Amino acid sequence: MPNLHAAPRFIRACHRQTVDRIPVWFMRQAGRYMKEYRELRKKYSILQLAKTPELACQVTLQPIRAMPIDAAIIFADILLPIEPMGARLCFAPGPVIDNPVRTSRDVDRLKEFDVKDGLGFVLKAITLARRELGATPLIGFAGAPFTLASYLIEGGHSDHFLKTKAFMLEQPKAWDKLMRKVRGITVDYLKAQVEAGAQAVQLFDSWVGCLSSDQYRRFVLPHSRFVLSALKRSGAPVIHFGTGTSGFLEDFASAGGDVVGVDWRIDLDRAWGRIGPRAIQGNLDPTLLFASRSVLKGAVHDILRRSRGRRGFIFNLGHGILPQTPVENVRSVVGWVHAWSSN
Ligand code: CP3
Repeated sequence: MPNLHAAPRFIRACHRQTVDRIPVWFMRQAGRYMKEYRELRKKYSILQLAKTPELACQVTLQPIRAMPIDAAIIFADILLPIEPMGARLCFAPGPVIDNPVRTSRDVDRLKEFDVKDGLGFVLKAITLARRELGATPLIGFAGAPFTLASYLIEGGHSDHFLKTKAFMLEQPKAWDKLMRKVRGITVDYLKAQVEAGAQAVQLFDSWVGCLSSDQYRRFVLPHSRFVLSALKRSGAPVIHFGTGTSGFLEDFASAGGDVVGVDWRIDLDRAWGRIGPRAIQGNLDPTLLFASRSVLKGAVHDILRRSRGRRGFIFNLGHGILPQTPVENVRSVVGWVHAWSSN
């Protein structure tokens, strides 16, 4: 266990150490709800922002400069690794892959690349941002094997994941091969992010909640577990995030990670009871940031009440900030969490 006395409260909470205040950050905290981000987006595409380390660093810092948030997350996208694998990716405005994976041969054609070559720009952005951030810890991230595979197969956004489920159930050998390729790259990528300066990493399994418990256990869990186990020795705490996981939360938590991320569909205290003595992150519904101040206040208060008496809570949303979110409400939540949890 590293010496955590001087560690920031976000890192301490990941390790279930005592904290002076509950740490708070927001998934997608750098993005369109901020005027500064929209200004930059007038000049650059999302891929240009992500692939230019100086710009990615600048966007990473925007929310940190605007509010006393307890951690920064590097500006990138979970889909960046699929480009060097051979997928043709564009944002229009949602992600579109015009050569999706549909057969075992398509899986064979996916390239296993050196992350320092294919994703060196993210590593460089991490090193730059770390230098600028001072005492604020920097989170790196990657998509989990299931969520990445679902984009590779669907070719973009999907409501029902029909093609992904068909591939998984009808071509289990090809599915296994695909998941092994994706998980290998994910491990290399996250390890390289830690080496470049990320002090924690988050694995995003955003769409895993479309699966049944049995499907999760058979087709996904071993691969997520592979990634999370490989990162145990990296020295940086790992957050394992998913949405819609309440049907199989024990299995999801058993995949590993220091912190389990939950959405808002489950009460925080119930989720915590089910995962046992682990740190937890969540679980405000992002739509509540559009509510009246009294409703929003009540929701934040309720989450803090449910977190009482336990160590290892990181306040966050249950999923990413929505584009039209009022910045003032985000700032207020940071203030309330800090004020109401200080001891
Ligand atoms: O959290 C942060 O501030 C860091 C940046 C970040 C982005 N994407 C930038 C982005 C992170 C952590 C992500 C993760 C991501 N990307 C996920 C997992 C988290 C989640 O929300 O479930 C997923 C599924 C993606 C894939 C993706 N990227 C989609 C579906 C879209 C389009 C939808 C949308 O929000 O417009 C993107 C584009 C994207 N990635 C934007 C940002 C800020 C918006 C692009 C824009 O500026 O127009």
